Amino acid sequence: MKNVKIKEILYTEAEIQAKVKEIGEKIKQDFEGEEVVLICILKGSFIFTADLARCIGDNATIDFMEASSYGDSTVSSGNVRILKDIETDVSGKHVILVEDIIDTGNTLAFLRKMFEKRNVKSVSIATFLSKPARRTIYIEPEYVGFNIPDEFVLGYGMDYAEKFRNLPYIATAEFID
Ligand code: IMP
Ligand code: MG
Repeated sequence: MKNVKIKEILYTEAEIQAKVKEIGEKIKQDFEGEEVVLICILKGSFIFTADLARCIGDNATIDFMEASSYGDSTVSSGNVRILKDIETDVSGKHVILVEDIIDTGNTLAFLRKMFEKRNVKSVSIATFLSKPARRTIYIEPEYVGFNIPDEFVLGYGMDYAEKFRNLPYIATAEFID
């Protein structure tokens, strides 16, 4: 495992909160008078989901799911394993998959397809960050906080070897061997 340190702050706590509010407002408008289920994709999106849920108001419920990509990481297999599924019956409901960051797109492409088969009213994706240059599969998230270049980032739920998730800001990482 490499040593890592914080290189540069990309988004401050205030910038993050302003953007979350903006996304929350959009979701509120788009689903006015409708029930939505926010599905937090663990672990990275636990903080974004908590903040977003509080911007949306009382027509949102929350559930949790954990998925992990497996196989040779140099090959984009698209294979995703469900480590924890939701407990909510989502049939007939609007579902929003909440993610911290989209990289290759494999995780969310898989999850979107999976939810489409569960007789939901709609499936949307809300991701705080996206790295479009890294995409190996087509995926068009409905709600994106920021598009960022191909750099590894930490904080606001995102980790390296389980560390740095609790940083209140988002920073780029510097790897030291
Ligand atoms: P994807 O299936 O390749 O899109 O993988 C997305 C997942 O990889 C995210 O939910 C994160 O858990 C992780 N990930 C991707 N890029 C980063 C990063 O820059 N920092 C931390 N985690 C990342
Ligand atoms: Mg994640």
